[in-house]
Amino acid sequence: MHPLPILLAKDIYFIGVFDPDIRTFDIVMKTANGSSYNAYLIKTDEGVIIVDTVKKEFQDDFFHHVDALCSYEEIKYVIIHHIEPDHSGALPELIRRAPHAKVLISPQATMMLKALTNTEEINFETIWTNKQLKLGDKTISFLTTPYLHWPETMSSYVHEDKLLFSGDVFGSHYYDKRLFNDKVGDFSYAFTYYYDHIMRPFQNYVRQALKLYERFDIGLIAPLHGPILRENPQYYIQLYTQWSHKQKQSGQKILSIFYLTSYKNTQEMAQSIMEGSESVEGIITNMYDLASIEEPNMIKILEESDGFLIGSPTINADAPKPVWDLLSCLMFLEKTGKCAGAFGSYGWSGEAVEHILSRLKSLKLKVPPLEPLKIKLIPNTIELQACYNYGVEFAQILNGKMIEIDMA
Ligand SMILES: Cc1cc2nc3c(=O)[nH]c(=O)nc-3n(C[C@H](O)[C@H](O)[C@H](O)COP(=O)(O)O)c2cc1C
Ligand SMILES: [Fe+2]
Ligand SMILES: [Fe+2]
Repeated sequence: MHPLPILLAKDIYFIGVFDPDIRTFDIVMKTANGSSYNAYLIKTDEGVIIVDTVKKEFQDDFFHHVDALCSYEEIKYVIIHHIEPDHSGALPELIRRAPHAKVLISPQATMMLKALTNTEEINFETIWTNKQLKLGDKTISFLTTPYLHWPETMSSYVHEDKLLFSGDVFGSHYYDKRLFNDKVGDFSYAFTYYYDHIMRPFQNYVRQALKLYERFDIGLIAPLHGPILRENPQYYIQLYTQWSHKQKQSGQKILSIFYLTSYKNTQEMAQSIMEGSESVEGIITNMYDLASIEEPNMIKILEESDGFLIGSPTINADAPKPVWDLLSCLMFLEKTGKCAGAFGSYGWSGEAVEHILSRLKSLKLKVPPLEPLKIKLIPNTIELQACYNYGVEFAQILNGKMIEIDMA
């Protein structure tokens, strides 16, 4: 039994599908409440516009909705806001059924279109900010909103209905067939979680998108996942505004020192580095033991840090797992401009520091070209002084001291 397409504005229908059982999304996200792949259909007296499609394995439900609303000859346009397979999966079959429909995508999506659909000779046209589509009584403005969540991502705005098709922006992995935010259960955790995992690495692009959205009077937000936001959509825009703008006291720089230690050698080094960095005006330093800090807190701390240092002993020729866990958290963060370094105590071979440094460099963090700070076993007074000096120097660099940084 297929549910009927749901009307969300005049002649605009939800033709998406529900995936209540999915528990992990894109490898990195847990989806305790399942998800939905939202797609929409706009009817006009000059033809039909399909707005996005769904994951391939759910395409039967999607086509069932389309069948209930129009014939394939009526479909004039297919807007693909985001070409990731959870939204483009049904596109090859849709093109097959509606060969005359023109696919509208961003220029960045053209390189991906063929690779994702494996379909030759697609009838497509590219769109970007300020371009408009007028069909019947609907006027749609396109907005380029790259990296939210892939480089090719778009949003669009239907003037007559004050409706924003936001792509993955304002989405949540939260299945609830009641669909509208004023009807579904409390999905606030899913909304926040989605932002943290999908949007946060691209805060700068979130701010740019919000600027574009500001041009329009938004009465309804239709994202690609989770509830449609029709009650107080401004609330969700405000949340994104707040999350994407760092609130920090101006002029002060935050340095976070994470360390791991078995015999307190690396910890002693961390302590001296902290004393050194604290002696530099305008630097606030905090120290964290990696053995007992939880991942969400790591992410928060890394996010608010202008710079961070990782201290690790060498264990079996490497840095132990908590260090790599910290490094893997950087995947969820905007890294541009952050300074980073590494230090540690070792017994004989001391590989950990170099391993960390090379990882930091490959993540494109700013790694100042300071002498790697490695100390054999228990640091003596002279070595602790070297740690102090390292702290001073790193803090000065964080404060803007000019140096050549190797970004290779
Ligand atoms: C199980 C184990 C394996 C180790 N493997 C190495 C190693 O491969 N290379 C090395 O340089 N030191 C190795 N060490 C020595 C530690 O790096 C050294 O004791 C260091 O001072 C510990 O610093 P911490 O007190 O901060 O933990 C190892 C120590 C332990 C306990
Ligand atoms: Fe996506
Ligand atoms: Fe998506």
